[in-house]
Amino acid sequence: MKENRKAYKVFHQRKDKLNEQYTGDYYKKQHDKGKLTARERIDFLFDEGSFHEIGAFIKPNTEAKKYGDGVICGYGTVNGCKVMVYAQDFNIMGGSLGLVHAQKIQKVQELAANMGHPVVGLIDSGGARIQEGVASLAGYAGIFHHNVKSSGIVPQISVILGPAAGGAVYSPALTDFRFMVKHTSHMFVTGPQVVKEVLNEDISFEDLGGAEVHGSASGVTDFVYNDEEHCLLGVKKLLSYLPSNHLEQPPVLNWDDIQPRNSENISYVLPEDSSKPYDMIDIIERIVDVDSFFEVAENHAQNIITGFARLNRKVVGIIANQPKVMAGTLDINASRKAARFVRFCDAFNIPVLVLEDVPGFMPGKNQEHNAIIMHGAKLLYAFAEATVPKITVIVRKAYGGAYIVMNSKNMGGDMNFAWPSAEIAVMGPEGAIKILNRKELSEAEEPEELKRQLVDDYKNNIANPFIAEEKGYVDEVIEPSKTREVLISAFSLLENKFEPKSPRKHGNFPM
Ligand code: HXC
Repeated sequence: MKENRKAYKVFHQRKDKLNEQYTGDYYKKQHDKGKLTARERIDFLFDEGSFHEIGAFIKPNTEAKKYGDGVICGYGTVNGCKVMVYAQDFNIMGGSLGLVHAQKIQKVQELAANMGHPVVGLIDSGGARIQEGVASLAGYAGIFHHNVKSSGIVPQISVILGPAAGGAVYSPALTDFRFMVKHTSHMFVTGPQVVKEVLNEDISFEDLGGAEVHGSASGVTDFVYNDEEHCLLGVKKLLSYLPSNHLEQPPVLNWDDIQPRNSENISYVLPEDSSKPYDMIDIIERIVDVDSFFEVAENHAQNIITGFARLNRKVVGIIANQPKVMAGTLDINASRKAARFVRFCDAFNIPVLVLEDVPGFMPGKNQEHNAIIMHGAKLLYAFAEATVPKITVIVRKAYGGAYIVMNSKNMGGDMNFAWPSAEIAVMGPEGAIKILNRKELSEAEEPEELKRQLVDDYKNNIANPFIAEEKGYVDEVIEPSKTREVLISAFSLLENKFEPKSPRKHGNFPM
């Protein structure tokens, strides 16, 4: 009994010592930099009182003054669903990653994958712990290995809330989604100092690897927020669309949680002149459940839209051309962005809806020399290999290779619809008549009048959806105002879709 009392005393002393770590200027140091502490981030992310820490007392060695080795790990619920987390604590050795720190993260990854729960990494770290040398590098390698093994098993989300430098950026890169905060999150393989030494170029942290750069130009991050609170709310929102693992279906809302939707005026979004742009978001929002659209990678490759939404309470992944940016053409970035999104949806049982208005692939030396051939092939591959229900609605243009890519019937589209306004052909009318009618046009007395007539003929006889419908490449030409109900009914038909897995090891995705 006496021994027992002593053990209890030690138990409480250790708890007090652990709590002491989180007093004094623990909060101020982070707040002064415009950041929350690791503990505050966890409290904000998880449902109140649900977080349970694992390995709080771990130390890298007996001489270490602090517990935890600079990372807080554990589990709890977010929106009522179990989620595992690791949060690097910048206040302890700059959140740097030593071997024990890495082992804690790997334990979280292993538990998440084995138990089938999403894993969220809150990253705020000076990178490999310099004092530990190769052991810290091995620690990173172990994390990367787990990232790859967990890919497609459980959703993995990286939230960069401070520095992520050097090879440390590759764990976020191997996960499904990345979140960043303006001015406080930075990701780069080599920092501004190295850039100066090697290239003699001056560049700030923000311009090299800040949230805005990665949210737009590089597309490395999928979500950008002004502050950490909104960023963590974004993580919660994303989780609300995702199943916990690849064996589960995405969450379905209650009937009471959706408002009736009126799609009556949907066709008025299209301008009368089919060469004029419009905002595809206006169409998406007239189809999906009210306020349910959640865009992914909003500022990168804006010529294509990707995002989650609900259709009659059920989650769908939307891929839509955006005619108001570069006329909705497909280029390298758009192909990569969409391909990655399709693959995520496919891995996690999220049906795919394509809204199509695409004049073709982006021409030019820049695109060709940077391998549009291989990047465009990624999107083809992603649609063709996806086994989730896949539906396309051709809203307006569907020309050439771009028609094929956007989940056309023969690429494996389960249901293909078109609006009466659809233009489906090898190329647009102007391009086509230049090739087919060059001689007549050059000899015509009134070439503009002849051109107008030829364009009309081409639209009436070749580039319209009725021919595709008659040949079975489009299942049905639909009334635009009925799009929502047609889609709800078609996705319901496809709900039990089953495609047996191929026995091969894996395909060879075009990189
Ligand atoms: C050990 C580190 C550390 C590191 C920071 N600290 N980075 N300790 N190893 N990698 C410690 C600091 O010594 C300091 O300790 C505390 O963390 C806070 O750091 P500050 O420099 O005071 O903070 P700040 O001014 O905000 O600057 C943050 C920083 C800077 C930009 C991250 O610390 C920095 O440049 N660190 C080194 C980054 C780096 O080069 N890492 C290696 C990348 S290569 P005290 O005791 O003073 O509070 C890499 C390889 C991975 O990671 C390979 C994977 C395959």
